[in-house]
Amino acid sequence: MKKIIVIGASGTIGKAIVEQLGLRHEVVTAGRSSGQFQVKIEDPASVQALFEQVGKVDGVVVAAGDLHFGPLLDMTPEQFRIGLDSKLMGQVNVLLAAQKHLHEGGSITLTSGIVSEQPIRFGANASAVNRAVEGLVLGAAIELQRGLRVNVISPALLDESVAAYGPYFYGMETVPAKRVALAYSRSVEGAETGKTYRVW
Ligand SMILES: NC(=O)c1ccc[n+]([C@@H]2O[C@H](COP(=O)([O-])OP(=O)(O)OC[C@H]3O[C@@H](n4cnc5c(N)ncnc54)[C@H](OP(=O)(O)O)[C@@H]3O)[C@@H](O)[C@H]2O)c1
Repeated sequence: MKKIIVIGASGTIGKAIVEQLGLRHEVVTAGRSSGQFQVKIEDPASVQALFEQVGKVDGVVVAAGDLHFGPLLDMTPEQFRIGLDSKLMGQVNVLLAAQKHLHEGGSITLTSGIVSEQPIRFGANASAVNRAVEGLVLGAAIELQRGLRVNVISPALLDESVAAYGPYFYGMETVPAKRVALAYSRSVEGAETGKTYRVW
Protein backbone atom coordinates (compact mmCIF):
# COMPACT_ATOMS: atom_id res chain seq x y z
CA MET A 1 0.00 0.00 0.00
CA LYS A 2 1.30 3.44 -0.97
CA LYS A 3 0.57 6.80 0.65
CA ILE A 4 -0.66 9.17 -2.05
CA ILE A 5 -1.66 12.79 -1.77
CA VAL A 6 -4.32 14.01 -4.20
CA ILE A 7 -4.52 17.79 -4.62
CA GLY A 8 -7.94 18.69 -5.99
CA ALA A 9 -9.44 15.57 -4.46
CA SER A 10 -12.98 16.98 -4.22
CA GLY A 11 -13.17 17.93 -7.89
CA THR A 12 -14.83 16.17 -10.79
CA ILE A 13 -11.61 14.36 -11.72
CA GLY A 14 -10.24 14.26 -8.17
CA LYS A 15 -13.21 12.36 -6.75
CA ALA A 16 -12.78 9.63 -9.36
CA ILE A 17 -9.02 9.45 -8.67
CA VAL A 18 -9.63 9.08 -4.94
CA GLU A 19 -12.16 6.33 -5.57
CA GLN A 20 -9.78 4.42 -7.87
CA LEU A 21 -6.59 4.80 -5.83
CA GLY A 22 -8.48 4.37 -2.56
CA LEU A 23 -9.16 0.75 -3.52
CA ARG A 24 -5.51 -0.12 -2.88
CA HIS A 25 -3.78 2.80 -1.20
CA GLU A 26 -3.91 5.31 1.62
CA VAL A 27 -5.13 8.53 0.00
CA VAL A 28 -4.58 11.91 1.61
CA THR A 29 -6.95 14.55 0.22
CA ALA A 30 -6.15 18.24 -0.29
CA GLY A 31 -7.94 21.19 -1.84
CA ARG A 32 -8.29 24.94 -1.71
CA SER A 33 -11.03 24.76 0.90
CA SER A 34 -11.98 21.07 0.80
CA GLY A 35 -10.23 17.85 1.83
CA GLN A 36 -8.15 16.85 4.84
CA PHE A 37 -5.52 19.53 4.10
CA GLN A 38 -5.86 23.00 2.60
CA VAL A 39 -3.40 24.29 0.01
CA LYS A 40 -3.19 27.03 -2.60
CA ILE A 41 -1.02 25.60 -5.34
CA GLU A 42 -0.23 29.10 -6.67
CA ASP A 43 1.59 29.83 -3.40
CA PRO A 44 4.94 28.00 -2.97
CA ALA A 45 4.87 28.55 0.81
CA SER A 46 1.44 26.94 1.03
CA VAL A 47 2.64 23.96 -1.03
CA GLN A 48 5.72 23.61 1.17
CA ALA A 49 3.55 23.73 4.29
CA LEU A 50 1.31 21.01 2.89
CA PHE A 51 4.22 18.60 2.42
CA GLU A 52 5.57 19.39 5.87
CA GLN A 53 2.18 18.61 7.43
CA VAL A 54 1.58 15.41 5.45
CA GLY A 55 5.13 14.05 5.71
CA LYS A 56 6.79 11.71 3.21
CA VAL A 57 4.56 10.18 0.56
CA ASP A 58 4.88 7.68 -2.30
CA GLY A 59 2.77 9.58 -4.80
CA VAL A 60 1.64 13.13 -5.50
CA VAL A 61 -1.28 13.79 -7.84
CA VAL A 62 -2.53 17.20 -8.96
CA ALA A 63 -6.01 17.56 -10.47
CA ALA A 64 -6.41 21.29 -9.92
CA GLY A 65 -5.57 24.60 -11.55
CA ASP A 66 -7.55 27.40 -13.16
CA LEU A 67 -7.49 28.47 -16.80
CA HIS A 68 -8.98 31.43 -18.65
CA PHE A 69 -11.45 30.68 -21.44
CA GLY A 70 -12.40 33.63 -23.62
CA PRO A 71 -12.06 35.19 -27.09
CA LEU A 72 -8.53 36.00 -28.20
CA LEU A 73 -9.56 39.37 -29.58
CA ASP A 74 -10.56 40.69 -26.15
CA MET A 75 -8.01 38.76 -24.07
CA THR A 76 -5.95 40.79 -21.65
CA PRO A 77 -2.50 39.86 -20.33
CA GLU A 78 -4.07 39.67 -16.88
CA GLN A 79 -6.57 37.08 -18.08
CA PHE A 80 -3.82 35.06 -19.76
CA ARG A 81 -1.91 35.11 -16.48
CA ILE A 82 -4.74 33.21 -14.76
CA GLY A 83 -3.66 29.96 -16.38
CA LEU A 84 0.06 30.73 -16.05
CA ASP A 85 -0.17 31.56 -12.35
CA SER A 86 -2.65 28.84 -11.38
CA LYS A 87 -2.55 25.71 -13.55
CA LEU A 88 1.07 26.09 -14.75
CA MET A 89 2.94 27.63 -11.80
CA GLY A 90 0.69 25.76 -9.39
CA GLN A 91 1.83 22.44 -10.80
CA VAL A 92 5.43 23.67 -11.08
CA ASN A 93 5.29 24.59 -7.38
CA VAL A 94 4.00 21.13 -6.50
CA LEU A 95 6.59 19.31 -8.61
CA LEU A 96 9.51 21.33 -7.23
CA ALA A 97 8.46 20.69 -3.62
CA ALA A 98 7.28 17.11 -4.15
CA GLN A 99 10.65 15.85 -5.41
CA LYS A 100 12.06 16.51 -1.94
CA HIS A 101 9.15 14.93 -0.04
CA LEU A 102 8.71 11.69 -1.96
CA HIS A 103 10.08 8.33 -0.93
CA GLU A 104 12.59 6.79 -3.35
CA GLY A 105 10.79 5.49 -6.45
CA GLY A 106 7.77 7.74 -5.84
CA SER A 107 5.73 9.45 -8.52
CA ILE A 108 4.29 12.82 -9.46
CA THR A 109 1.22 12.96 -11.71
CA LEU A 110 0.08 16.27 -13.20
CA THR A 111 -2.92 17.28 -15.32
CA SER A 112 -3.05 18.97 -18.74
CA GLY A 113 -6.01 18.49 -21.13
CA ILE A 114 -7.02 17.72 -24.70
CA VAL A 115 -6.74 21.34 -25.87
CA SER A 116 -2.96 21.02 -25.72
CA GLU A 117 -3.34 19.14 -29.03
CA GLN A 118 -6.94 19.74 -30.16
CA PRO A 119 -7.62 23.48 -30.10
CA ILE A 120 -11.04 24.93 -29.31
CA ARG A 121 -12.42 28.42 -29.76
CA PHE A 122 -11.68 30.56 -26.66
CA GLY A 123 -8.97 28.09 -25.61
CA ALA A 124 -5.67 29.90 -26.33
CA ASN A 125 -4.79 30.14 -22.65
CA ALA A 126 -5.72 26.50 -22.05
CA SER A 127 -3.71 25.25 -25.06
CA ALA A 128 -0.64 27.22 -24.00
CA VAL A 129 -0.78 26.17 -20.35
CA ASN A 130 -1.53 22.51 -21.01
CA ARG A 131 1.37 22.27 -23.49
CA ALA A 132 3.65 23.93 -20.96
CA VAL A 133 2.67 21.38 -18.31
CA GLU A 134 3.45 18.58 -20.77
CA GLY A 135 6.78 20.25 -21.55
CA LEU A 136 7.56 20.46 -17.86
CA VAL A 137 7.00 16.72 -17.50
CA LEU A 138 9.13 15.94 -20.56
CA GLY A 139 12.02 17.96 -19.20
CA ALA A 140 11.73 17.08 -15.53
CA ALA A 141 11.47 13.31 -16.05
CA ILE A 142 15.09 12.95 -17.18
CA GLU A 143 16.40 14.95 -14.25
CA LEU A 144 14.43 13.60 -11.31
CA GLN A 145 16.62 11.69 -8.90
CA ARG A 146 16.20 8.64 -6.60
CA GLY A 147 14.04 6.78 -9.15
CA LEU A 148 11.29 9.37 -8.97
CA ARG A 149 8.89 9.46 -11.92
CA VAL A 150 6.61 12.15 -13.39
CA ASN A 151 3.76 11.86 -15.90
CA VAL A 152 0.86 14.02 -17.05
CA ILE A 153 -2.73 13.07 -17.82
CA SER A 154 -4.44 14.81 -20.74
CA PRO A 155 -8.19 14.17 -20.48
CA ALA A 156 -10.85 15.05 -23.01
CA LEU A 157 -13.91 16.85 -21.65
CA LEU A 158 -15.45 14.63 -18.99
CA ASP A 159 -19.03 13.39 -19.34
CA GLU A 160 -19.56 14.88 -15.89
CA SER A 161 -18.39 18.35 -17.04
CA VAL A 162 -20.60 18.70 -20.12
CA ALA A 163 -23.07 20.91 -18.25
CA ALA A 164 -20.27 23.34 -17.35
CA TYR A 165 -18.11 23.33 -20.51
CA GLY A 166 -20.12 21.52 -23.21
CA PRO A 167 -20.56 24.48 -25.60
CA TYR A 168 -16.77 24.92 -25.88
CA PHE A 169 -16.40 21.32 -27.03
CA TYR A 170 -19.26 20.69 -29.48
CA GLY A 171 -18.42 17.78 -31.75
CA MET A 172 -15.74 16.34 -29.50
CA GLU A 173 -16.18 13.03 -27.71
CA THR A 174 -16.37 13.12 -23.93
CA VAL A 175 -15.00 10.56 -21.48
CA PRO A 176 -16.27 9.22 -18.15
CA ALA A 177 -14.39 10.28 -15.01
CA LYS A 178 -13.93 6.62 -14.17
CA ARG A 179 -11.89 6.09 -17.35
CA VAL A 180 -9.83 9.24 -16.71
CA ALA A 181 -9.06 7.98 -13.20
CA LEU A 182 -7.49 4.82 -14.65
CA ALA A 183 -4.82 6.92 -16.37
CA TYR A 184 -3.87 8.43 -13.00
CA SER A 185 -3.70 4.92 -11.57
CA ARG A 186 -1.45 3.86 -14.44
CA SER A 187 0.87 6.78 -13.77
CA VAL A 188 1.02 6.17 -10.02
CA GLU A 189 1.17 2.38 -10.12
CA GLY A 190 2.99 1.78 -13.40
CA ALA A 191 6.67 2.13 -14.24
CA GLU A 192 6.82 4.80 -16.95
CA THR A 193 8.08 8.35 -16.68
CA GLY A 194 7.96 11.46 -18.84
CA LYS A 195 4.73 10.33 -20.48
CA THR A 196 1.60 12.19 -21.47
CA TYR A 197 -1.34 9.81 -21.08
CA ARG A 198 -4.13 10.95 -23.40
CA VAL A 199 -7.64 9.93 -22.37
CA TRP A 200 -9.62 10.70 -25.53
N1 LIG B 1 -13.35 18.50 -16.03
C1 LIG B 1 -12.90 18.30 -17.25
O1 LIG B 1 -13.65 17.96 -18.19
C2 LIG B 1 -11.42 18.44 -17.53
C3 LIG B 1 -10.91 17.99 -18.75
C4 LIG B 1 -9.55 18.13 -19.01
C5 LIG B 1 -8.71 18.70 -18.07
N2 LIG B 1 -9.24 19.13 -16.88
C6 LIG B 1 -8.33 19.72 -15.90
O2 LIG B 1 -8.38 18.96 -14.71
C7 LIG B 1 -8.16 19.79 -13.58
C8 LIG B 1 -9.28 19.55 -12.58
O3 LIG B 1 -10.52 19.79 -13.23
P1 LIG B 1 -11.92 19.47 -12.53
O4 LIG B 1 -12.97 19.72 -13.56
O5 LIG B 1 -11.86 18.17 -11.83
O6 LIG B 1 -11.98 20.68 -11.47
P2 LIG B 1 -13.05 20.99 -10.32
O7 LIG B 1 -14.19 20.03 -10.35
O8 LIG B 1 -13.33 22.43 -10.40
O9 LIG B 1 -12.23 20.69 -8.96
C9 LIG B 1 -11.05 21.37 -8.69
C10 LIG B 1 -10.40 20.78 -7.45
O10 LIG B 1 -9.17 21.43 -7.25
C11 LIG B 1 -9.18 22.15 -6.02
N3 LIG B 1 -8.53 23.43 -6.29
C12 LIG B 1 -8.96 24.41 -7.10
N4 LIG B 1 -8.09 25.42 -7.11
C13 LIG B 1 -7.09 25.08 -6.28
C14 LIG B 1 -5.90 25.72 -5.86
N5 LIG B 1 -5.59 26.94 -6.31
N6 LIG B 1 -5.09 25.07 -5.00
C15 LIG B 1 -5.42 23.86 -4.54
N7 LIG B 1 -6.52 23.20 -4.90
C16 LIG B 1 -7.36 23.80 -5.76
C17 LIG B 1 -10.63 22.31 -5.65
O11 LIG B 1 -10.74 22.45 -4.24
P3 LIG B 1 -11.94 23.32 -3.59
O12 LIG B 1 -13.21 22.66 -4.08
O13 LIG B 1 -11.72 23.20 -2.13
O14 LIG B 1 -11.78 24.71 -4.14
C18 LIG B 1 -11.20 20.99 -6.17
O15 LIG B 1 -10.91 19.93 -5.27
C19 LIG B 1 -8.09 21.23 -14.11
O16 LIG B 1 -6.74 21.59 -14.26
C20 LIG B 1 -8.73 21.12 -15.49
O17 LIG B 1 -8.20 22.07 -16.39
C21 LIG B 1 -10.56 19.01 -16.59
